Amino acid sequence: MAAEAVIETQNKTPINRREFLNFAWLVSLGFLSLSVGGVTFLFTMPRFREGEFGGVFNLGEVGSLPPPGSEPKIVPEGKLWLSNTERGVMAIYTVCTHLGCLYNWESQQDMFLCPCHGSAFEPDGTFIEGPAPRSLDRFVVQIESRDGQILAETDPETGEPVPVPDDPTAMVKVDTGRRVLGPPRT
Ligand code: FES
Repeated sequence: MAAEAVIETQNKTPINRREFLNFAWLVSLGFLSLSVGGVTFLFTMPRFREGEFGGVFNLGEVGSLPPPGSEPKIVPEGKLWLSNTERGVMAIYTVCTHLGCLYNWESQQDMFLCPCHGSAFEPDGTFIEGPAPRSLDRFVVQIESRDGQILAETDPETGEPVPVPDDPTAMVKVDTGRRVLGPPRT
C-alpha cells in the first residue's frame, strides 16, 4: 500500500507553463468580475439616506398639506420652502439665485424677499424684481399612493407646480437630489 502511494506521487506531473497561465488568467478574471460587481452594487445604492439633504424627504400625506394659497412653510432640514400654490405644490430651494443668501418669507408683502440685495419672488418662486438672474430653484416633488404608485411629479424641464391628486392619503415626497433651475428672468 505504501509502495503504491509512492508511485502515484511520483506519477503526478508538475503543471506546465500553459496550464499555469490559464489558471492565472481565470483567477484574474474572477477578481475582475468581483470588482465590477462591487462597483455596480455601490452605484445602485442611494448616495443619501431618506431625510438627509441630497436625498428624499417624506413630507406627509396630501391631507396634511397647508391649504392652497396659504403661506409657504419652511422645511429647514430639507433646505426648502413647501409652497402649496393655487396651481399645485412646490418645494423651493431656500438659497437665493443671485449670490446664494438665504431669503425670507414676508407675509405682509406676500412674497419672498432676499435681505442681501433685495431680490423678490412670488410664492411660487417666480422672479419679481432685484438683481437675481432667474426665479428660485425648486426640487422635484413626487406624490405617491400608499401602494407606491407615482400619481404626480414635478416636470424636471419646467419645475412647474404639481397639481395635487384627490387622494388625501397619498404621500408628498421631495427629492432634494433633483434640483430644477428656476427659469431666467424676462
Ligand atoms: S443674494 Fe439674494 S439678492 Fe443678492
